[in-house]
Amino acid sequence: MARVAITELSKLYDGGGEPAVKDLSLTVGNGEFMVLLGPSGCGKSSVLRMIAGLEPITSGKIAIDGEIVNEIPAKDRDIAMVFQSYALYPHMDVFNNLAFGLRRRGIAKTEIERRVQGAASKLGLLPFLKRKPHALSGGQRQRVALGRAIVREPKVFLFDEPLSNLDAALRVSMRNELIRQQREMGITAIYVTHDQVEAMTMGHRICIMNKGEVIQIGKPLEVYRNPANTFVARFLGNPPMNLIPTSVEPDGGAYQLRVGGMSLPTDCWPAETLSRLGGKALLGIRPEDLYETAQRPDERRRIAIARAHVIAVEPLGAETLIILSLEGAAEEVTMRSGRETRLRPGDNATIELDLAAAHLFDPKTAQVIPPVHEEREARWAKAE
Ligand SMILES: Nc1ncnc2c1ncn2[C@@H]1O[C@H](COP(=O)(O)OP(=O)(O)O)[C@@H](O)[C@H]1O
Ligand SMILES: [Mg+2]
Repeated sequence: MARVAITELSKLYDGGGEPAVKDLSLTVGNGEFMVLLGPSGCGKSSVLRMIAGLEPITSGKIAIDGEIVNEIPAKDRDIAMVFQSYALYPHMDVFNNLAFGLRRRGIAKTEIERRVQGAASKLGLLPFLKRKPHALSGGQRQRVALGRAIVREPKVFLFDEPLSNLDAALRVSMRNELIRQQREMGITAIYVTHDQVEAMTMGHRICIMNKGEVIQIGKPLEVYRNPANTFVARFLGNPPMNLIPTSVEPDGGAYQLRVGGMSLPTDCWPAETLSRLGGKALLGIRPEDLYETAQRPDERRRIAIARAHVIAVEPLGAETLIILSLEGAAEEVTMRSGRETRLRPGDNATIELDLAAAHLFDPKTAQVIPPVHEEREARWAKAE
């Protein structure tokens, strides 16, 4: 297994235009599962293909265990790539699908036998070695595809959206299977997806990309709880974080936020930073941090009360989404509520905002305004 260090990697395809990847730096630790997450076209596959050696690097460096591999051909990089389509050989049984690549490399028969048996045993494929792909379930086929990578004993595994062709139920079971295999074998993996649920559940860390650039790297919940800017705030979480335009008004020596008819205290953020905002901020609050009055957990602190009008109620079964307009404010906000909501479209409601879970962004730069440290610590100590 191995450590992958990427330094200021860029990719400009022939034909000009914007670079597909811009100055991307990223280190993936030994045995780490790193997810590259971002919208379609943001450059994820380009990064993966450059790591694999399938695409020339425009500038920057890729090192595996300290050795720069820029000039090393794909076949000598000791990297395995697992794609969306498993591309198993339909006329070969599982044993031969696993053994094929090794034979081509001229590896000795006894060694092939050892590796295939080892991988098949790890992946629970021993009973199926004589079966052809058509006689396997989708999950078993995926294990064969993974097994083909494992028998090569590569230093690094690359995955390019391997689950996106599967139906929802199979995707969940495959996701869990892959997590289990990766954790058990301790392989170093870089996994590309545009699916935030996959990223949140699979990655030790997530690298969020947009337009070829790294936006934020961190553990899934860290990034979810502390988005660096409005892009991450909206990209992670479904429904996305509400971003409500507010004015920042001086109030004695301090500031307050005004949203429609409501005033909110700002002691979660340093006054000095607030003073530089030019009077405007975006208040970020996740749908789950808004409460119908009666449903709020009692011990929550820093609650702000808002008057709101119910525009729509969307029961999803386990929960209900409520679309509201805050009194005096133009923007609609989404509140995540329990399945037993009593609210109906057209109602006027009193709702509560968990201010300790709110974020503030500078609308000019889209960057987060870092909260006062102790406030944020206290907030998550409470949540955990
Ligand atoms: N072979 C190629 N030639 C020219 N442009 C490409 C090529 N492959 C990808 N691109 C462009 O590079 C950008 C990033 O693509 P890609 O890495 O496939 O993104 P993602 O995997 O995140 O969807 C896109 O704008 C895409 O159109
Ligand atoms: Mg892609």
